[in-house]
Amino acid sequence: MATEQELIEKATAMLDMAYVPYSHFPVGAALECADGAVYTGCNVENASYGLTNCAERTAAFKAVSEGRRRFSRIVIAARCEDYAWPCGACRQVLNEFGGPEMDVVCLNGKGEAARVKLGELFPHGVDSVWLGK
Ligand code: THU
Repeated sequence: MATEQELIEKATAMLDMAYVPYSHFPVGAALECADGAVYTGCNVENASYGLTNCAERTAAFKAVSEGRRRFSRIVIAARCEDYAWPCGACRQVLNEFGGPEMDVVCLNGKGEAARVKLGELFPHGVDSVWLGK
């Protein structure tokens, strides 16, 4: 398993990969899977703004497309005053593969960390149980 510090470094390094010509707001993510595999992501914007993909979902979709379906932890980095809390859409996607026990570590621009469980950020999410699957 990676250390939290290693994941923080990977998430922070992804800030330089972000494609953000419209918002100028880079976000980086490092996602750890249950088997220890780590996938990174950055936000990728588009001239058709609504097509933007957040850093967290970039990492999540990379992981699932490589065969990982159980997420254990994500670190999210941004250069802002507040902590880089994941947006609602990303919370729903993380919930699909991480569930309420997934660890979410949000960094602020000073590199300070806020640590929460996904279930605190996203209670009562739609999941396979809700759907009866
Ligand atoms: N963004 C993320 O990458 N993750 C989030 O959880 C919140 C927002 C991106 C989308 C957009 O490129 C920029 O941050 C400003 O909203």
